[in-house]
Amino acid sequence: MKILAIIASPRGMKGNTGRLLEEVLHGARECGAETEILSLSSLNVHPCVGCDLCHKTGICSITDDYEAIKEKLLASNGFILASPNYIFSVTAQMKALFDRCNGLIHCMALEGKYAALVETSGGGEDEEVLAYMARFVNTLGACSVGGIGSPVAGVRTFPAEENLFSRARGLGSELCRSIRERRLFPEQDEFQTGFRARMSGLIDFMQEHWLFEREYWQKRSQSR
Ligand SMILES: Cc1cc2nc3c(=O)[nH]c(=O)nc-3n(C[C@H](O)[C@H](O)[C@H](O)COP(=O)(O)O)c2cc1C
Repeated sequence: MKILAIIASPRGMKGNTGRLLEEVLHGARECGAETEILSLSSLNVHPCVGCDLCHKTGICSITDDYEAIKEKLLASNGFILASPNYIFSVTAQMKALFDRCNGLIHCMALEGKYAALVETSGGGEDEEVLAYMARFVNTLGACSVGGIGSPVAGVRTFPAEENLFSRARGLGSELCRSIRERRLFPEQDEFQTGFRARMSGLIDFMQEHWLFEREYWQKRSQSR
């Protein structure tokens, strides 16, 4: 079982978010997962230029590390998104990745995969950032098994740390077990059903232009 962790702190794994992610990964590995960490701060993921080539061909027009990250996501059974809170949201590095995933979102191409979310902040709004990342996961077609977020108490330290780290390890094992047991998350169905209808309607409307996505959805409806 392969779990890919994507961390979007400019400090990589050396910062607060990396510390909390370590515990989540520990829980996943204990449960039998093979894990890989991608740190966006040491990769190049440029902002989307809105050229629509991904919708037409399935491949991004920008030559950087995005396509390799995409392939790793597609090859994974589950993934973890980890970001510090930057002005009530994810970092620019994570947002650039989200935008570049627009083609994957139109296809809801990560259906059947599971994700966990990790966030740290200076002082709060942790739930807001986790909820945003969870919505992103759902638009990809994947299920969120949950998230963990916390303000910091100092450098790589947290209030009530023992309890937090124990919950973080629990989240890692929850991700692993959800993949293994192919768990269902019915509370996420309503959003995904609505979003699926919206995406297939959009691709239908743009079918003359977005050939890759048109074929993707046609094949998918035939295999259902
Ligand atoms: C540009 C910037 C924006 C930030 N915005 C917020 C914020 O809106 N709310 C908050 O609670 N903390 C904010 N912080 C603090 C970070 O979220 C916090 O220090 C986090 O733990 C850093 O994680 P890292 O060490 O993994 O990079 C911000 C920090 C920076 C550098």
